[in-house]
Amino acid sequence: MKNTEIIRINKENIDLEKLQKAADILKKGGIVAFPTETVYGLGANALDEDAVKKIFKAKGRPSDNPLIIHISEIEDIKKLVLEIPKKAEVLMEKFWPGPLTLIFKKSHIVPGITTAGLDTVAVRMPSHPVAKLLIKLSRVPVAAPSANLSGKPSPTKEEHVIKDLKGRVDGIVCGGDAAIGVESTVLDITSDVPMILRPGGVTKENLEDVIGSVKVDPAILVKADPDLVPKSPGMKYTHYSPDAEVILIKGDLEDITKEIEKMRRAKEEEGHRVGIMATEETKERYAGGIVISVGSRSNPETIAANLFKVLREFDEKKVDIILAETIEETGVGHAVMNRLTKAAGYKIVRV
Ligand code: TXA
Ligand code: MG
Repeated sequence: MKNTEIIRINKENIDLEKLQKAADILKKGGIVAFPTETVYGLGANALDEDAVKKIFKAKGRPSDNPLIIHISEIEDIKKLVLEIPKKAEVLMEKFWPGPLTLIFKKSHIVPGITTAGLDTVAVRMPSHPVAKLLIKLSRVPVAAPSANLSGKPSPTKEEHVIKDLKGRVDGIVCGGDAAIGVESTVLDITSDVPMILRPGGVTKENLEDVIGSVKVDPAILVKADPDLVPKSPGMKYTHYSPDAEVILIKGDLEDITKEIEKMRRAKEEEGHRVGIMATEETKERYAGGIVISVGSRSNPETIAANLFKVLREFDEKKVDIILAETIEETGVGHAVMNRLTKAAGYKIVRV
């Protein structure tokens, strides 16, 4: 067990001395969790092999899953990559700092452990004031996966991080809730037509407005089969999984809610404790089960913001099955459905 220092920071009024403590841990080769606008991250000096190794160990993360390097100034990217394609420049100008990760050809100073042996490197500049300042104060590029135990839903609240990582990391910077709630969009910019490897906070529509046509890795929403190996290694693992079994119900909204009611009754008769992931618009339609509204269909950003928190709430309520409504796969709904599909291990009922 490590002695984990809990460092509370108010993002509206940052205590520099306290944050410097966290930065010093990073500088000295330790690992520190910190808030970003997407989800909490678990950081280490990206150029220090031993420090990065500690991240994989603390999370129980498979070593073939590469990390994103976080920077606080555009200048910092130059030494990490071989070249910056024109389209990348335009995207950095438009979306950084923010929830967009770009994949570049890596330079020799980035160790293989950080990129899991790939010759490319993922880079992002977060917009969260605490994340930005922490990276700046540490004076190192910060490799950071989401700050959850591998396989669990990503942490959007400080208590999620404390639950998963206290005793396993050197420090946890607490800075309030993550506003976006799903991880950054990962975009491979090394080919002529850029490809989304993971949908996230910046939508396909947002990207196409700026650089024209963008492809989506076909492995994203369908079950991994041997012919469809996702280009983003992390996408192939079971992920975002609460302890309960998750089943998605897809179709017209009327049919979805009717089917969920039917399944709930059947599952309860079998003796199961059933959770229903509903929305503001539908939560009154269920006559039983543990119903939690994940947000409003008319504002899918609220669904993104609450998704991982609600998955963890169902675990706290000890349900053994979660019946989840699906939403439209447009805009941020694309990222929501991607995470839900993975949480469900591709168990989908079509009605
Ligand atoms: O919003 C986020 O991106 C958060 C916060 C902390 O910044 N980070 C995050 O990291 O979600 P992580 O490690 O949980 O997910 C990184 C994803 C994985 O799917 C990984 O496979 C992919 O990015 N990735 C990293 N480097 C890559 C590379 N060189 N090529 C392709 N995919 C890469
Ligand atoms: Mg993750």
